[in-house]
Amino acid sequence: MHKAMIMAKRVLVLNGPNLNLLGTREPGTYGSETLKDIENLCKKTADDLGLALDFRQSNYEGELVTWIQDARNTADAILINPAAYSHTSVAIHDALRAVALPVAEVHLSNIHQREAFRHHSYVSSVAFGVICGFGALGYKLALEALAQKLN
Ligand code: DQA
Repeated sequence: MHKAMIMAKRVLVLNGPNLNLLGTREPGTYGSETLKDIENLCKKTADDLGLALDFRQSNYEGELVTWIQDARNTADAILINPAAYSHTSVAIHDALRAVALPVAEVHLSNIHQREAFRHHSYVSSVAFGVICGFGALGYKLALEALAQKLN
């Protein structure tokens, strides 16, 4: 008798512009953890949840759009912190809508407590959930939500 192979669900974690500067970038707003620290937290969380993780960052809108398109064949869900593109990018909204995978949107800071231009995100309407204001913990919580959604 064959033992059924259980494939780990794959989550693509995307980080938008300037998040490569975490740790030194406005620590009062974004915390002192680096993007590497957040990646390590995500890897540990993914391991605990039995998820396969692909963690990336780009300062380029088009590169993020291409990665989202590629996810059609390579991922089961997307966790995205679109950073400033949250507030400007119809292209990222359209790409996420096109791939039709479950999307969790994360922001380190509470965008609703900040400048008015951060209060609207083009990604939120294509996400099944949004987490903001809990710092790096938001990534862990979003992975837990995605794991539950995928099961
Ligand atoms: C951010 C919030 C955005 O408004 C900002 O442009 C960022 C980071 C956050 O994680 O809090 O770059 O997405």
